[in-house]
Amino acid sequence: MIINGQPYRTVWMDDEAIKTIDQTLLPGRFEIVSLHDHHEVARSIESMIIRGAPAIGAMGAYGLAQAVSQLDRGDLDEIESLKQFFHATRPTAYDLTHALNTVFDKIAREADLPAMQQAAIKAAEAYADQSVEACRKIGELGNQLIRDGAVILTHCNAGALATVDYGTALAVVRVAHYEGKNITVYVDETRPRLQGAKLTAWELSQESIKHLIIADNAAGYYMQKGEIDIVITGADRIAANGDAANKIGTYEKAVLARANDVPFYIAAPISTIDFRCDSGEHIPIEERDESEVLIIDGKRIAPMDSRARNPAFDITPAEYIEGIITEKGIFKPAEIKLLASGNV
Ligand code: MRU
Repeated sequence: MIINGQPYRTVWMDDEAIKTIDQTLLPGRFEIVSLHDHHEVARSIESMIIRGAPAIGAMGAYGLAQAVSQLDRGDLDEIESLKQFFHATRPTAYDLTHALNTVFDKIAREADLPAMQQAAIKAAEAYADQSVEACRKIGELGNQLIRDGAVILTHCNAGALATVDYGTALAVVRVAHYEGKNITVYVDETRPRLQGAKLTAWELSQESIKHLIIADNAAGYYMQKGEIDIVITGADRIAANGDAANKIGTYEKAVLARANDVPFYIAAPISTIDFRCDSGEHIPIEERDESEVLIIDGKRIAPMDSRARNPAFDITPAEYIEGIITEKGIFKPAEIKLLASGNV
């Protein structure tokens, strides 16, 4: 992604530390944070310094690699408990599980600690590179769905910030824009944490992509008026039957899209698909602190004695999803099982 004219990834590692953009400060401040050990890495995920399923996955991969490289002695059991430690940070995003397992499997093939340490770093770098490539491909394939002049509605941030680069829904937007299509993105603000207004709008501004922020509850109005051509969101976990968990409010956008004959697509890498999860009802949904609903940018907006509930994600049933844009093609929800074998 281009930030202030320079290319960036969302997360990377150098000799000193794991580096990431602090997303809690955007759009006001652009700051890179350095994470020096597994506690700092876990905190960065929990506090949403880094967020978005593929980005959390890459951070988990780097986090495990860094933690293993800092061991003086240790065996696979110890590495397994580090894996579980990272796994507990955010429960819904399946990419985290996928990334930790990928790195762990590479480590497990080695006989001694120095070889494990080398393998871990190599596996984390390869994981991040593959993740970038998957998103680039999603953008290319999804672009076929976008006509010149299209108005695209998106929810939350499924952009480069939510991945290692390019994004998923925003990879499609980027490619359409780079090809010279005159597109406009309607950006749901995405309460309670405002990932749309703060992050998606910032990413699109950085690359001068035309966009308009709308209140979450305005999406139905514009769909009913026929102003939206297509809805594209990301996903945090997709079950084997095509049900998809994504940011709270996605489900209602999909239902509204169906009611107004607007095609609703999910853009996600295969690393987001949990083939062992039969359907959406088995996807764990994170409930976050009520303060995210009651307080905006440090200011309480509700009466002092009011309480709140704050589910971070909801499930869109497969029947509302026109297609899932992956790096291997665009599939009907019922077809994604075919991807489990890795032979497609
Ligand atoms: O709570 P967040 O900000 O991590 O939620 C992110 C989303 O819901 C994204 O849409 C999803 O992770 C897909 S990102 C390519």
